[in-house]
Order: sequence, then structure tokens, then C-alpha cells
Amino acid sequence: MAELTFSIIKPDAVANNKVGDILKMVSDAGLTIKATKMIHLTKTQAEGFYAVHSERPFFGELVEYMMSGPCVVSVFEGDNAIKRYRDLMGATNPADAVEGTIRKAFGASIEANACHGSDGPDTAAIEVPYFFSSLELVN
Ligand code: CMP
Repeated sequence: MAELTFSIIKPDAVANNKVGDILKMVSDAGLTIKATKMIHLTKTQAEGFYAVHSERPFFGELVEYMMSGPCVVSVFEGDNAIKRYRDLMGATNPADAVEGTIRKAFGASIEANACHGSDGPDTAAIEVPYFFSSLELVN
């Protein structure tokens, strides 16, 4: 069954002009782009999005980093899209990511790791409407 997942191309990858390369990897992996747009997160928006990590020691730096430049947020669709996009992204730390993954190709550090993807259906159901209205999702 078709599933939706939410993605952020993070400030490092946008600044390095990797948006096209990453969206091509997504398309080549057979996922469909349902919606995409460029945004520049405010502190409140970044804190809200990563609220689940608010007790983690890296939370402050993560929020500052996510505000440091524009991001590209997207919704991808496909059978098993959440797991397929996580597999395509690779390990959170680019040093552990395998060849052929987005983070191996474009990630610089565990913080500047090129992309974010929903980690499960419950998360996707929160993350997609955090950034997109139903009107912005093509049928
Ligand atoms: P992401 O998938 O966007 O979810 C939370 C982010 O926190 C994660 O990717 C990393 O980029 C970032 N992060 C920074 N430091 C750490 C850390 N020590 N462990 C896990 N995630 C970290």
C-alpha cells in the first residue's frame, strides 16, 4: 500500500547545491515526490519539529544548525516509503553510512548529515502536516 514519508534536505546539502542530486536519488529509487518547497526555519519552528529530542544534549546545537540556512522539505510516496527512504538516506552518522546512500555521498557530520526522514508511520503523520497542508499534496 502506498505510504507517505516526510523529508528535509538540511542546510548543509542546500548550501552545497545538492538538492537536485538528492531528489534525483529519490526518484531513481522509485519514490514519487508529492510535494516540495524551500523554507528557512525560525527557532520556534525548529524547536517544535525536533521537540522529541528536547532533552538530548545536542538539542540546542541541532536547532541552531537547522536555522542556519534554507532547507527543502518534501513529501515522498511509495510502497513502504518510510523504510525505503531511510535505507536510501543511510546511517545517521555519515561515517557509518554505506556506499550509495545520501549521507555517504553528501553528509559531513552527524549534525550536518544532509537529510532527515520520518522514522515511522506515527512520526510521518505528525511531520507531514507540520509543514504541508492537504491542499499542497498532489493527488
Ligand atoms: P535527524 O534524522 O534529523 O534526527 C535528529 C538529528 O539530530 C539527527 O538527524 C542528527 O542530524 C542530529 N544529531 C546531532 N547529534 C546527534 C547525536 N549525537 N545523536 C543522534 N543525532 C544527532
